[in-house]
Amino acid sequence: MELNQVIMERRSLRAYKEGQKVEKELIEEMLRAAQAAPSWKNSQTARYYVAMSEEMVESIRETCLPEFNRNNCAGAPVLIVTAFVKSRSGFDREGNAVNELGDGWGCYDLGLANENLVLKAKDLGLDTLIMGLRDGEGLRKLLHIPENQEIVSVIAVGRGAAEPEMPKRRELEQIAVFY
Ligand SMILES: Cc1cc2nc3c(=O)[nH]c(=O)nc-3n(C[C@H](O)[C@H](O)[C@H](O)COP(=O)(O)O)c2cc1C
Repeated sequence: MELNQVIMERRSLRAYKEGQKVEKELIEEMLRAAQAAPSWKNSQTARYYVAMSEEMVESIRETCLPEFNRNNCAGAPVLIVTAFVKSRSGFDREGNAVNELGDGWGCYDLGLANENLVLKAKDLGLDTLIMGLRDGEGLRKLLHIPENQEIVSVIAVGRGAAEPEMPKRRELEQIAVFY
């Protein structure tokens, strides 16, 4: 797919076709796209926990997602929990934050990587939903995610059963200032 088409046609999908598998190779391609993203001093602190078995996907849905998102990702065969290693991106060798954003930079890097991930999914004919409403500590326990990682989002991956329109975007004048 052409880049601009991927960017414009990616949507957050809240309806998935039931009973459709997503091959591990496709998830690996998405993860490689995520890895190609820039990061602070190439620190590469993004981490991914990929639930592909029915049992694990169900456990995450049932125990770590609020009802709203449990419904939104129903039928999606893969859930990817995204996290980043704390106190590295945006920190110096002594472990001091380089500026006021602190671990905001780790979150920034993860966001860049995750955008690559969801765009690559679209390119491969898959749909995604990034979910920020989730129980982080529940995910930590369930997936044994170490304490030095901040758990950020859960990304559902599957084949969409709807074709939503792009939600309205602001005008350029509202988001950008030219000097
Ligand atoms: C950080 C982040 C958290 C989000 N959390 C949720 C969520 O918990 N549940 C949900 O249904 N959508 C969630 N979304 C999806 C947004 O609502 C969606 O991206 C936005 O409405 C724009 O729609 P689009 O992705 O189709 O362009 C989230 C998106 C982002 C980037």
